[in-house]
Amino acid sequence: MSRLLLVSNRLPVTVKSDKDGVSVVRSAGGLATGLRGPHERSGGVWIGWPGDVSRLTPPQRASVEAQLAELRCVPIQLSASEVSRYYEGYSNQVLWPLCHYFIERIPRQDRDWDVYRKVNERFADLVARQYQPGDTIWVHDYQLMLVPAFLRARLPQARIGYFHHIPFPSSEIFRSLPHRNELVRGLLGADLIGFHTHTYVRHFSSTLMRLLGLETVVDRVEHEGREVRLGAFPMGIDAQSFENLAKEPAVLEEVRMHREKSAEQRLVLGVDRLDYTKGIPRRLVAVQRLLEREPAWRGRLRFIQVAVPSRTGVEDYATYREQVDELVGRINGLYGSVHNVPVHYLYRSFNEKQLAALYRAADVMLVTPTRDGMNLVAKEFCAARPDEDGVLVLSEFAGAADELGDALIVNPYDVEGMADALETALDMPQEERRTRMRILRARVKEYDVHWWVRSFLDTLEATPLAPPRVEPA
Ligand code: ADP
Ligand code: G6P
Repeated sequence: MSRLLLVSNRLPVTVKSDKDGVSVVRSAGGLATGLRGPHERSGGVWIGWPGDVSRLTPPQRASVEAQLAELRCVPIQLSASEVSRYYEGYSNQVLWPLCHYFIERIPRQDRDWDVYRKVNERFADLVARQYQPGDTIWVHDYQLMLVPAFLRARLPQARIGYFHHIPFPSSEIFRSLPHRNELVRGLLGADLIGFHTHTYVRHFSSTLMRLLGLETVVDRVEHEGREVRLGAFPMGIDAQSFENLAKEPAVLEEVRMHREKSAEQRLVLGVDRLDYTKGIPRRLVAVQRLLEREPAWRGRLRFIQVAVPSRTGVEDYATYREQVDELVGRINGLYGSVHNVPVHYLYRSFNEKQLAALYRAADVMLVTPTRDGMNLVAKEFCAARPDEDGVLVLSEFAGAADELGDALIVNPYDVEGMADALETALDMPQEERRTRMRILRARVKEYDVHWWVRSFLDTLEATPLAPPRVEPA
């Protein structure tokens, strides 16, 4: 196995500071878990941003660096202006909305491109400094779309992979970006470009044809004398670990408490980052519609929506939060009583055990993004149901819908249809719930995050290296 250099905007760690000092702890996310094994075994490093450490004292910073080095992480520091323009600006106010089809949310003036470009170049410089011949480089996600080409210019012989964790939109959407050609050329610096679904691969191929006149033959495209491969690698989760968590006695005790509190009620669950792509307002209105048209459900249904604060420095996220707050208030005002409220809205992060307990306690899980590259929450819910119960209601616009066809698939723009699906889920006979959940679980367990890492890296390792440049005599 060659040494693996992983590159992502965020390092897979969280820096915590309290009265006892600073500590660097590993994150629990899917990417971090899936790549931990290959990262440690290969003896490589992970390069990325450790988050805002500007308020730490110099000795605290030194301690963070030492702890990061122990975890084989190489930090890149971002200035306040870079955070605002590269991360919040171009990454999250241009590329994020564009790839999720929210083209109207993009600022009128494209002011942050230069900083995005510069930070991508800085990432590439840092990676090149860490590189040793024979290493494999794996770059992750939309914040770093230019890194593969910057790396190719610095390391013509290197093996470089890139994975796009969010949707790749239709070429009709993508080509509205002023810097569309640079971005696509940026990706073409890689030997292998991975997406979650075949639809995203198809959109990317059409974009290459429309913008650069490049034709994809099966899964390959020729660019500047090199062959670039494209592929669909649907990301999975650490299914075994979620299943184990969901069987722990402490988690089962929490499940019992959730259920006891609502013995007469059915529990409906939503778990998301608070992001406007997640479709929370329409989901809330669908719950409201069911209560409106079927009075028998009033007082018998408890909807818990867990929302983890995200990108709070970006204005659209603040506005979205207000919208959600207002809707929750409206529905509870209309359908609550002195004994209970229909919507329990929790704006905070939960640990994996708490999440597993909620997943296992839920009768119905609502995963209804208007667009989502994959959506791992849907898979976590299935993994946490060794009891083979619970119904998943899933948006057709989540990448996960390609794999999880035995969920109740809904159009998240069709509120009435979602209210129907919720009712169907609540009334579903146990036998049908079990049959569906068995199939969903088999898929999630077989195609887990370890399968994903293996299949991407095996394909990358099998790509022929770029031919050496022949200098004219
Ligand atoms: P995205 O990558 O857009 O956030 P995913 O569903 O693919 O969406 O992944 C979200 C991850 O964040 C999941 O692993 C999920 O467990 C975690 N997560 C979501 N909501 C919360 C929360 N309230 N607290 C803690 N973790 C959360
Ligand atoms: C999505 C993106 C990731 C990103 C994550 C959290 O999953 O694909 O690249 O890291 O959201 O967002 P944040 O902006 O907090 O890193």
